[in-house]
Amino acid sequence: MDVTLVTTNPGKLREVREILAPFHAAVSALRRKLPEPQTSSLREVARSKLEAVSEVPGWVLVEDSGLFIRSLGGFPGVYSAYIYGIWGLDPLLELLRDRPRDAVFRTVAGLRYGTRTWYRLGECRGTIARSRRGTGGFGFDPIFVPEGKRRTFGEMTAAEKASVSHRARAMRSVGKLLVRETRSRARPD
Ligand code: IMP
Repeated sequence: MDVTLVTTNPGKLREVREILAPFHAAVSALRRKLPEPQTSSLREVARSKLEAVSEVPGWVLVEDSGLFIRSLGGFPGVYSAYIYGIWGLDPLLELLRDRPRDAVFRTVAGLRYGTRTWYRLGECRGTIARSRRGTGGFGFDPIFVPEGKRRTFGEMTAAEKASVSHRARAMRSVGKLLVRETRSRARPD
């Protein structure tokens, strides 16, 4: 089935395409910058993104992600895009110099078909590296080491990142849902 992913981030598009391919979902991008409301909930952001593209027909997919650092009270969390935009990576590393480094990446995927909506959460626990490593991926990838691994997301191939990432977990759950829903729609009453 065809799915429209609303994003301006080519890194997200690449990942979502690869993750949903085994579920026979063909993902095309609608490059539209959507408003992100000031809220403490990724789900609320995903909901408002879906609402902002209510005219788009068919399967519509949005996602909102954030990096939550425990010793910073969950910062940057829902403000990750804003903080990444104004700081990049170094001030975050500086802030963490003498603090515990455990963190969790979260993605909330929002899916809509007609009047129905679904939300799926994916999480990946890990730690913030002492310095940036690797050039793969995007955003905070060079400083995030997933639990049980030594390398940062930035040092991994796309497939390695997808084997553990927050986005892959949320999107695989979306993939299963798409398969289930399209099968039930195809079934004669
Ligand atoms: P948003 O979902 O576009 O609001 O993303 C929040 C911020 O987190 C952006 O700066 C992204 O670049 C960053 N981000 C989102 N997902 C990932 C990821 O998988 N790896 C690294 N950074 C990410």
